[in-house]
Amino acid sequence: MTMSASLRLLVVDTDQFGAAAADAVLRRLPAHRPRLGVATGDTPIPLYRELARRHACGQIDLRTALLIALDEYVGLGPDDPDSYATYVRTLVAAPLGIGTENIVIADGLAPDPDLEAANLDTRIEALGGVDVQIAGIGSNGHLAFNEPGSAWESGTRVVQLSEQTRQDNARFFGTVADVPHRAITQGLGTISRARSIVLLAAGTAKSAALTAAVSGPIDPHVPASMLQRHPAVTVIADRAAAAGLSLRGEHR
Ligand code: F6R
Repeated sequence: MTMSASLRLLVVDTDQFGAAAADAVLRRLPAHRPRLGVATGDTPIPLYRELARRHACGQIDLRTALLIALDEYVGLGPDDPDSYATYVRTLVAAPLGIGTENIVIADGLAPDPDLEAANLDTRIEALGGVDVQIAGIGSNGHLAFNEPGSAWESGTRVVQLSEQTRQDNARFFGTVADVPHRAITQGLGTISRARSIVLLAAGTAKSAALTAAVSGPIDPHVPASMLQRHPAVTVIADRAAAAGLSLRGEHR
């Protein structure tokens, strides 16, 4: 089985997932005003809890960090409980003592979403880019909301969410009908400029997508396979997500 030489894979037990992810992120984060790219969704929750725990007991201080979000739903504003702005503010920033002025995220209510997306790319570049990008993977192999078929060089833009993604995310909204149809997402080109990437995958539902992404061909139909083209990627997977990977030896 081929696996990119620069891709490091750690397979961990579920109870170690948050700590392993926190170690991987912190190891690569500069001490001075770090720029941390944040994913939302279920998978990074143990990581954010672990960072909050280390902050609460004085082990880490990320108060000067900039949090740069991967995506936002078009139509959901920062006060909407289901927006990613709310997620980043309440589940990442607040527990780490990071002020809202240090959160960079597209405004889902911007009158011109295309312009808002383009401006976000410019802003990320002006800030000096992302030091460590935390990412999850969709069951269809999406990275951020770059759905299958996205261009490798794509910039931040408005995208249509696939039916698979809307079904997968219905659990956050109650019904699939309430899941927005569009989002502003950082592009694969934007994400590829992060200095390092920590991809998190947990659960059986991610097993096929993770296997395709890290050991299949580099193929735009599996957007997360772009990770094989990046020079500094760590994948943290629990045993269920890693079940399709034939591993030699212990990867922890
Ligand atoms: C979220 C994001 C998405 C998720 C992916 C997995 O900001 O960009 O790509 O990372 O859909 O979501 P969970 O972790 O909820 O399974």
